[in-house]
Amino acid sequence: MTKLAVFASGSGSNFEAIASAIENGELDASISLVVCDRPGAKVEKRAEAFGIPVLSFYPKSYESKADFETFILQQLNEAGIEWIMLAGYMRLIGPTLLQGFEGRIVNIHPSLLPSFPGKDAIGQAFEAGVKLTGVTVHFVDEGMDTGKIIEQDYVRIDENDTKENLGRKIQAVEHVLYPAVIRSLLQEKIKR
Ligand code: GAR
Repeated sequence: MTKLAVFASGSGSNFEAIASAIENGELDASISLVVCDRPGAKVEKRAEAFGIPVLSFYPKSYESKADFETFILQQLNEAGIEWIMLAGYMRLIGPTLLQGFEGRIVNIHPSLLPSFPGKDAIGQAFEAGVKLTGVTVHFVDEGMDTGKIIEQDYVRIDENDTKENLGRKIQAVEHVLYPAVIRSLLQEKIKR
């Protein structure tokens, strides 16, 4: 069974979607570790409910990104982690982890990349007045949401949508798309 680590900074609803897909037998994998760079974030409680260990850390307690990524890399290797799934991890991945997990780090982003990279992609799309936005799952490189696109799905922005309910529509699509893409990746249906 493939061992995954999920990295998150916030609520962890995508973590939960992946963990539930595993629990329901839709995904032949296990989440061996959740990595969280914001101690106290809701994802910690969600992980606890699934009995999954959490590695929480304060980035500011380290001198550099290389320092905390070296620490994380050691923990991932000790746990035998094969893939890193970013799920709302609001931090660029540095060279230490990129080299340690080359071609095996994936991210989900709430827009149709290359449109609206970076923070608050849902708000950016809403403010821009586009009629179509969506979700992208992509490989991670050193850039901000720039890696090779694996899969996308769209969400229509209707006349009476608010930013809040657009957020809910996007997340509903994320929670289906991310486990499905991970499943294909692990079955090697997707070329790296
Ligand atoms: C998700 O919508 C994810 O696409 C987004 O953060 C949210 C996390 O929600 N990620 C990014 O914006 C990355 N650039 P969650 O904590 O409930 O899974």
